[in-house]
Amino acid sequence: MLAIRLVDGAERPDVLVLPVRSVEGGGVPAALSPDLPVLPDDVLTEATALVPATRATGRAGEVHPHLRPGRTPGRLLLVGIGSGDEPGWRAAGAALARAGSNETQITIAMPADVPPEAVRGLVEGLLLASYRFRLTEAGDTPALADVDLAVTDPARYAYTLERAEVTARMTRLARDLTNTPSSVKNPQWFAERVEEAATGHPDLHLRVREPDELAAEGFGGILAVGGGSASGPRLVELDWRPAGARTHVVLVGKGITFDTGGISIKPVPAMKLMRKDMAGAAAVVAATLGAAALRLPVRVTTLAPLAENAVSGSAFRPGDVITHYGGVTSETTNSDAEGRLVLADALAYAVAELKPDLLIDLATLTGANAVALGKRTGALYSENDELAADVLAAIDAAGEAAWRMPLTADYVEHLASEVADLYSAPNQGGGSVLAALYLREFTGDLRQRWLHVDMSAPSWADADSAELTRGATGWGVRSLLRWLPTLG
Ligand code: BES
Ligand code: MN
Ligand code: ZN
Repeated sequence: MLAIRLVDGAERPDVLVLPVRSVEGGGVPAALSPDLPVLPDDVLTEATALVPATRATGRAGEVHPHLRPGRTPGRLLLVGIGSGDEPGWRAAGAALARAGSNETQITIAMPADVPPEAVRGLVEGLLLASYRFRLTEAGDTPALADVDLAVTDPARYAYTLERAEVTARMTRLARDLTNTPSSVKNPQWFAERVEEAATGHPDLHLRVREPDELAAEGFGGILAVGGGSASGPRLVELDWRPAGARTHVVLVGKGITFDTGGISIKPVPAMKLMRKDMAGAAAVVAATLGAAALRLPVRVTTLAPLAENAVSGSAFRPGDVITHYGGVTSETTNSDAEGRLVLADALAYAVAELKPDLLIDLATLTGANAVALGKRTGALYSENDELAADVLAAIDAAGEAAWRMPLTADYVEHLASEVADLYSAPNQGGGSVLAALYLREFTGDLRQRWLHVDMSAPSWADADSAELTRGATGWGVRSLLRWLPTLG
């Protein structure tokens, strides 16, 4: 990860970045961001003239390079920051990570009194857009290794920088886990990565349940889904338990390390990216590690039910009836609706044993998410208006996206089964809604304090775009690390 330093001023760098603000309504004339105290006078004069000369508009993320051969700095980069709000600076950071990727070091001249949110956006944009997945893109690593932020008062931004760095580091961890091929990433491997990351934090506790323990305690959904694979299932329980915490949140993440669909096997195009089917588990684990790194004063317990949904003679079948943790039974007409079966166990366990104040789950649950909302937006469900509003606000502030969807009462009847308590895969349209209604059946007393996000769509980016690099996005880590600190 590239190293970002806060410096107060005036070393003479080789590459100097100057922010350009757009004017109301966009277009020319834009203006060099006022009050850049770190600039030598000659550079300031020249850069001021460059703004109209390059026809810079200040649009967030627009970059204009300018060469100054034989002089220092040898290169100026004008970068648009829009109106100068956090999203504008985030776009600028992402654009600089790409435009500056052949430099080894750049210095960014920050305006005096720039608000901490701007620094947060800039740093997250830089660190997220410069991400590459080590396995497949080793040759494509950006040269850019050091970024100096020239500010008048470095101490003022120290915590902002730390928080943005932890957020980016954890988002990158979630991306790494999700991008990893399923030949490497089985449930045991995932659990070992969590163990590795959690070691050394005194208030972080980890328990990994193996198949025999899952059987002894009745986790029938996890065992059924994991039963077809040579790599057995696991349940990761990671607990950040700081002294004095007044609120307890349980985060649950779907952890299917590969989803073939099982006996109800997926066709080739639909199966292609199913190594990403543990993106929910990656996000909640990474967010919990982030909460620990930042010592957030809230207790966070993460549950990641991990299984590979494979095809074999020991795979569960369409029409099987399985008994979940706590005793509720499901008729499983389609073995490709496996995510809800593992989540059901984890939710029921959280409600019965952990009894948190709030219960949140993130899952790559249905293809219907993208049908309804496209490729960038998660589908959010909750009966609790205040909780939904708070989480949506955090998602928006973090630069991610979700849209609240209904838990339509009229559809509950589709969950009825003649042979079990619930029917797991009704084929009635509204697939994301029905999956959410199914999960709700396992929330017990916490029904009004539960929130679910179907994040199948935004968990993956087909192409580089702003702070996203193609592949896994780490969706949810940034949002959770915005929301958790508001709980106090
Ligand atoms: N993992 C898939 C959902 C998915 C699809 C995630 C596309 C990311 C991209 C899930 O397990 C699944 O197969 N869902 C089925 C449910 C159906 C059988 C009720 C689906 O969406 O078709
Ligand atoms: Mn499936
Ligand atoms: Zn799945």
